[in-house]
Amino acid sequence: MNLSEELDKIFEEANRLIGSSVDEADLDKNKNEYLGKKGKLTSVLKNLASLSIEEKKTVGQKANDLSKSLEEIVSKTRENLKTKGFKEQSEKEWFDVLRALGETEPGTLHPITKIQYEIEDIFTSMGFEIWDGPEVETDFNNFGALNFTDDHPARDMQDTFYLENGNLLRTHTSAIQVRALRKLKPPFKIIGPGRVFRYEEVDASHETSFYQIEGMVVGKDISAGNMLYTMEVLLSRVFEKEVKTRLRPGFFPFVEPAFELDINCQVCGGSGCSVCKQSGWLELMPCGLVHPNVFKLNGLDPKEWTGFAFGLGLDRLVMMKYGIHDIRYLHSGNLRFLKQF
Ligand code: PHE
Repeated sequence: MNLSEELDKIFEEANRLIGSSVDEADLDKNKNEYLGKKGKLTSVLKNLASLSIEEKKTVGQKANDLSKSLEEIVSKTRENLKTKGFKEQSEKEWFDVLRALGETEPGTLHPITKIQYEIEDIFTSMGFEIWDGPEVETDFNNFGALNFTDDHPARDMQDTFYLENGNLLRTHTSAIQVRALRKLKPPFKIIGPGRVFRYEEVDASHETSFYQIEGMVVGKDISAGNMLYTMEVLLSRVFEKEVKTRLRPGFFPFVEPAFELDINCQVCGGSGCSVCKQSGWLELMPCGLVHPNVFKLNGLDPKEWTGFAFGLGLDRLVMMKYGIHDIRYLHSGNLRFLKQF
């Protein structure tokens, strides 16, 4: 057999072997057997020295061509093995993401999340837009833009967690009304749900973190009557019955006049119990008409625009709706408690 015939034979063999590789490691081994430094094809070329110049040329050329073809066969085979490997793996390792997981129980929404979604639905049905803001806020967005001066005693109403860089954990979702006032062109109606933080002694009705929904309506000739009507629609839908309300004067630097909206106690219906401290009323929602300074501080003309704002405490609302007597349950992660919802 001359060299050229030997090459043909080796090529045949290599082609068959490489093509039958079962996986990539096998392929590498087979490739090495022919194309490696000590491979069969390479060693044939070592005998080239004994040939005439003419023969060297043709055989050398042929060997080059064959080794190129083999390289191509190797890379094709590699591609095929990859797809095949993936197919086999996915056939072996598939699982049904919809299959019930035996022992594991599905989760449920936290009652605060549930009531938040409910309230979002009620407000979006009245044309409100939902706004968001960060939990870490600037002092300006949380206080300054809401008409709290630097030495304003009202700052002490809300004991604040400050960060080292001068920012703070927002003490109320009113920071969201500031963001809306600065971004939106009136008239607008927004709500802004979110988590808020206060440096407070924890007890049955106080937590260092809780949830609020801010509401703000800005437009022409907005009155306290518009505000009260909106609140009543909201509350009768949340409690699924007509709810009695009353307004008492309140104080917040960003609304004037400021009110505290009370509802008749949902636990005793108004006749007096320990939850409402025998008064028949529960304090639910601070609110009021937007203070002219707040418009000014946020780039709007108070002669042109009017509005109302309110801040609804979600923890409070959940407690009333479900008759929960201790706010600490809400953030406890206690499954026995949470599974009831
Ligand atoms: N931001 C106030 C608080 O958390 C509540 C509030 C909101 C009062 C909007 C008036 C208007 O105490």
